[in-house]
This record gives sequence, structure tokens and C-alpha cells, in this order.
Amino acid sequence: MVSRVIPVDQFDLVIFGGTGDLARRKILPGLFRRFCAGQMLPEARIIGAARSDLDTHGYREMIREAIAEFGELSAIDPEQVDQFLQLLSFVKVDALGDEGWAELQSLMGGTGRIEAYYFSVGPSLFGDIAERLQKWGMADADARIVVEKPFGRDLETARALNQTLATYFNEDQIYRIDHYLGKETVQNLMAVRFGNMLFEPLWNSQYVDHIQITVAETVGVGGRGEYYDKSGAMRDMVQNHLMQLLCLIAMEPPSQFSPDAVRDEKLKVIRALDPVLPHHIVRGQYQAEPCNEPENPGYRTEVGNPRSRTESFVALRVEISNWRWAGTPFYLRTGKRMSERASEIRVVFKDTPHSIFGEEAGRHRNVLSIRLQPNEGITLGVTIKEPGPGGMRLIDVPLDMSFAETLDPDDIEHVDAYERLIMDVIRGNQTLFMRGDEVEAAWRWTDPIIEGWQARNDVPKPYETGSDGPTDANELLRREGRSWRKET
Ligand code: BG6
Repeated sequence: MVSRVIPVDQFDLVIFGGTGDLARRKILPGLFRRFCAGQMLPEARIIGAARSDLDTHGYREMIREAIAEFGELSAIDPEQVDQFLQLLSFVKVDALGDEGWAELQSLMGGTGRIEAYYFSVGPSLFGDIAERLQKWGMADADARIVVEKPFGRDLETARALNQTLATYFNEDQIYRIDHYLGKETVQNLMAVRFGNMLFEPLWNSQYVDHIQITVAETVGVGGRGEYYDKSGAMRDMVQNHLMQLLCLIAMEPPSQFSPDAVRDEKLKVIRALDPVLPHHIVRGQYQAEPCNEPENPGYRTEVGNPRSRTESFVALRVEISNWRWAGTPFYLRTGKRMSERASEIRVVFKDTPHSIFGEEAGRHRNVLSIRLQPNEGITLGVTIKEPGPGGMRLIDVPLDMSFAETLDPDDIEHVDAYERLIMDVIRGNQTLFMRGDEVEAAWRWTDPIIEGWQARNDVPKPYETGSDGPTDANELLRREGRSWRKET
């Protein structure tokens, strides 16, 4: 494989919450893979900061184990691991006190080095950490901070968080992560839309019948029950990941692929979203068959709350009130413990205005499917004549652009969403990060939906684990003469 990797500039990256789940599963294994790819110079410094009683040696051993467990590499070269671990150090830091800050400060800096601080901690600590970074002279104008979701739990809390961070940092220093934006196919979506002449002229309500966005997971809430039960699928997935996919599908072409040009266009989409009517949204909660309960628990058992009314599934219909999309429904669906792990966007085009072949030949709609995971790729369904005798019968065949099949696998370098996004922080590129106003606009649209459920004491509809969600989600489309497409 010819390496196209360009090393990033020298950097110091502090990971607050450096011993936590995200750091061990995603951030550090991701950094290790970038190190192996040659994207980091050996002088890079990565500093884990947390309350744990660890020293640098102990931290390096913890990360050695994390790389072995979550590295997702076919073979791990122990020498490379040793070299990578040399970049790591650990400081015991108290986010709410003074312990550790002087030591942290003494490790940072040097001429021309980029300083980045990853807040891999709960949002309640964002303000305290930002304040101490400033107090200890680490919040200079070039520093960058990375903040994880959940960014607030409603408009009010998101606004307060934005204000807190704005006290210490400018907007161009704040990198709000939505890891869906780092996924390969999500970026391909922009390449397909804005790098081809073919699709854009048809990308509007005149030619598109409707658009479906599905993010289905087979996993349940697992060990995250405490967080999840206070959030639910609307806050956990729809307000951020599905909203971002919707924006990229629906936005106008930005004048250039630059952070503010892209984010301005996404913001316009969110602001143009119609409110969701109560009969256009279905909430569900997975339920286990009693006989399967021990291995395959239902939602309430898993979160330890027998009366929980939190949704693990949402399906909704929304319209975008602008010239391009007025009248075109967008159907969004996400859920846990569904029949298969499949994230896909489907652009379903309208029927031809008139069938010259007669109804008996059959009629098919063109569907452009953009698969995010698994088997990422893009498929365009086109109508052709069924080969052979028997007259003109039309069938639908896929024009398949499955990346794994089309491109030489040796030539594809798989980069996980977190790897790409962390390197973007170091490169100083905010295109794939959410701006403060974007996050607030998304909450402004989400809040009334959740408030409506609370006001109506809404109880989510049960659905069986391993199914496609409550039947009402099918009804949402069926009553409009449409259906959710099955996985291709
Ligand atoms: C996270 C959610 O942001 O995204 C999780 O909090 C969800 O609940 C996860 O499982 C899905 O991410 P991915 O990359 O596995 O599709």
C-alpha cells in the first residue's frame, strides 16, 4: 500500500478521564493506530489525567492492555506498542481541586507545539476543568479543547455549557465531537453529492419521494443503564447522530469544504425542520420473552428500573420547510436490540411520470442506498428489462459501489471515526465538529418532542428484542403508502 499519511505537527494531548472507558476503548487505541501509520512524530506527548492512583508506569501498562483488547489490529507489534507507550505519561489530577495542575502545567508546552485537551469526562466537569486550565495558564489562544457528547440534555443545559466554555475559550478552539461525522461513509455522502453532476439536479422534492435514515443496533444498553435511562434514544441518538446525517443529506451545497461553510448549511437545515406532530413519532422499549430473560434481558431489567418509561427506539417523520424539500417526508428510525446492526440512508426517488410499458411490466423506483455500517458502500437501484423471453418485464438491479469489492482492499486504509477526528483536532480542522449554535438548534427542535411525551405521560410501545421495533413504526409509513426498506 502506498502511504498517503502526512504526519501532523508536534503536539501535547491531555486526556482528562484518561483511564475511563472511552479513553481505553477508542481514544488511545485510535492514537496507537495513527502512530503505527506514521501520522505522529515520535516527539508527540500524550498525557493521561485522572483521579486514579496511578503513575506513568501503571498507566502505560493499562494502555498496553487496552491496545491488546480494543486495538482492532490483525497483528500487534510489541515493539511498536513499546515505542508508543513511551509517548505516554500520567498525572493524577483533581478536576475540583488544585492537586496535579502544577505538574500538568510543567509537562506542557514548548515552542510551536500544539496543545489539545480532551474532556473525556461527564459534562458536569467541563466548567471546572476549563476554569483550572485558565488558572494554570494552559488556556492560551492556540489551545484546543475537545468535548464529548452528551452536550447538554436540553436547550437550557446546552446553552449553559456553551456559555461556560465561552468564558475561557473561543468557538474556534472548541471541538464538539459527534463521532458519526468521522465515519468514512458519512464523508463519502458529501463526496457523492458534491463531487458528481449526476445526483444533485435530482436531489429535491420534485424527484425524491422520501428519504429514510435508519441506525439500528443489536446491542442493548449494557453497562450504561444509569446514563441511558435518563436520556433515551431521542437524546442519545436522534438529537445528534441522526440529526447530523439528516443535515448532510438535506443541506445546500456549501461554497467550499471549509468548517464554517459546511456548518452554516447544516444549521439552516436544522432551523428549517418542522415540529414533529405527536402522531408522526413512535417510541419503543425492548422487552424480552420471559424464557429468554437471563441471557437476553429486557430494557427495564437491564437498566434496573421496573417502571422505566425511557425509549430505546424512536421512529419519526419530519419535513423540512424550504424550497428544496417542502413536502418530502424524512423518516428517521433508531433502536437498540433490533434484528440486525444496520445503518443506512435511503433516498427513494419518485415513479416515472408515465409507464410506457404498461402496468403488467411492473414499476420500480430508483433507490440510492448509502450504507454506513456494516459493509459500507453505496448502491443505486436501476430498472432494466428482465433478461430472456416473455416480453417486457422490468426488474430492479443494483449498481453497486461496495467499497470493499470495488477498491483494492490493500489500498484502503481503514481509519476509525475517533482516529480521524482526533487528528483533525491536531490539524486544526473543525469541519467535522459541531458548532455551538448547531447543537443549540438541534435541542430547540428536540425539546418540544420530549416535553410533549412528558406532558402526555407517554409510555413507549414494547417491542421484542431482535425485532424491527414496534409495529406502529411500520404503520407510520404504511398509512402513507410507503414502507421501511429491508436491508439490501
Ligand atoms: C453513541 C451512543 O453515541 O453511539 C450509543 O451513546 C450508541 O448508545 C453509539 O450505541 C453507536 O455508535 P456506532 O458507531 O457503534 O454506530
